[in-house]
Amino acid sequence: MYKISKFMEFYRGLILNPIENFNIDYFQDGLLSVDKGKIQFCGEYKVGLKNFQEAKEITRTKHLIIPGFIDLHTHIPQFPAIGKGEGELLPWLNEYIFPLEEKFKNPNLARKVSKRFFKKLIENGTTTAVIFSNSSFEATDIIFQEANKSGVRVFIGNSIMDINAPDSLIYSIETNISNMNKLIEKWHLTDKGRLNFIVSPRYAGSCSIELMKEAAKLAKQNDLFIQTHLAENKDEIKFISSTHNFKGSYTELLFDSGIITPKSLLAHCIYLDEKEIDIIKQNDASIVHCPTSNRYLRSGIMPLKKYLIKNLKIGLGTDIAGGYNVSVLRETKEAIENSKYYSLFLDKTSQTLNKQEAFWISTLGNAKILKLDNIIGSLSAGKEADFIVLDSEFNDIKDYRNIDDVLSELIYSDSLRIRNVAVRGQMMYQN
Ligand code: GUN
Ligand code: FE
Repeated sequence: MYKISKFMEFYRGLILNPIENFNIDYFQDGLLSVDKGKIQFCGEYKVGLKNFQEAKEITRTKHLIIPGFIDLHTHIPQFPAIGKGEGELLPWLNEYIFPLEEKFKNPNLARKVSKRFFKKLIENGTTTAVIFSNSSFEATDIIFQEANKSGVRVFIGNSIMDINAPDSLIYSIETNISNMNKLIEKWHLTDKGRLNFIVSPRYAGSCSIELMKEAAKLAKQNDLFIQTHLAENKDEIKFISSTHNFKGSYTELLFDSGIITPKSLLAHCIYLDEKEIDIIKQNDASIVHCPTSNRYLRSGIMPLKKYLIKNLKIGLGTDIAGGYNVSVLRETKEAIENSKYYSLFLDKTSQTLNKQEAFWISTLGNAKILKLDNIIGSLSAGKEADFIVLDSEFNDIKDYRNIDDVLSELIYSDSLRIRNVAVRGQMMYQN
């Protein structure tokens, strides 16, 4: 790495920097300068050189420099279940996931799995992740401890449940609220905002309306994000309507419970009618697309472009272990490929997602959804320096002619290798 002074560091290479409205700045011979963990300059090397004479010493490299990836939806206790099960959502939860989340109450297992998970995240260039734990306070506390050590930015929540799950995973409303309060007090906004608590009612199939209402109240009082699952699978939707004494759609049920807010992350949203889409849009909530999971669990294909055209806020998540990719970069590819399936098999008039849009969503788009786009998501001056350095097994970066050349190789070929990953300018991974 190119350290010039005690504090300042310079990185020279091809830089992709997402900017407004799905656009991406491209600097063929770019310079990134980092000072005390913050980005001081990002642009053409020649321009940078006017400000930083020290950067003269740096020769041109074959590196590609991009912002760290953001994963908006994943489940740590499910990490050991990747690839397990052939069934759809409800039997998969009962046969594989709930038993594993019970085992995750064992502190040794929780620690071991969490350590491995955060190591994998960093190796894959994920610098921020939004995470479901199991329902227990102790296991969630262990995930926070490991997140703290790992250096990754996180939003973590215990998956609260009070109905329709094994006895050892469900808690009374009072216990769920008290567990959340303890986690908020201990961890929320620690390490200057790197560690965050997120209110996480698992889904309306395992939460009473009263629990969802209390959870929503707690989120409002503490200005917290809320995450849940919505309209993922046809049997799940039937199960929700048979569980609750509520006349109205799945989305109306969540809205009535106070769960649909500008700080809500609603995973999946495959099956929404126009009225439900309007509720999400009017309340400025976000949809988190998990394309691999949607295929693996045979849930369906989400109408991504239709939502984007309606100006809904759409983010991207890996959804381990419904999804099998820890890597957000691979998930970016799957989002594009799922949009092709949608246009091939479900709506021939639908547009597909392009590479630029997909890359933008997995970086700056996801940061906007977390309302952190003034801090992360791109390499613009003033932001915290969360970035990835890659190089190519075959090509010299200088041979790329335009953004499309870079994105094709980055997203579709496996020949770009992650060499360094930094959070707040600190190298968390060097390969
Ligand atoms: N719905 C409720 N719980 C889960 C879960 O753990 N994974 C997925 N994909 N959907 C869910
Ligand atoms: Fe999920």
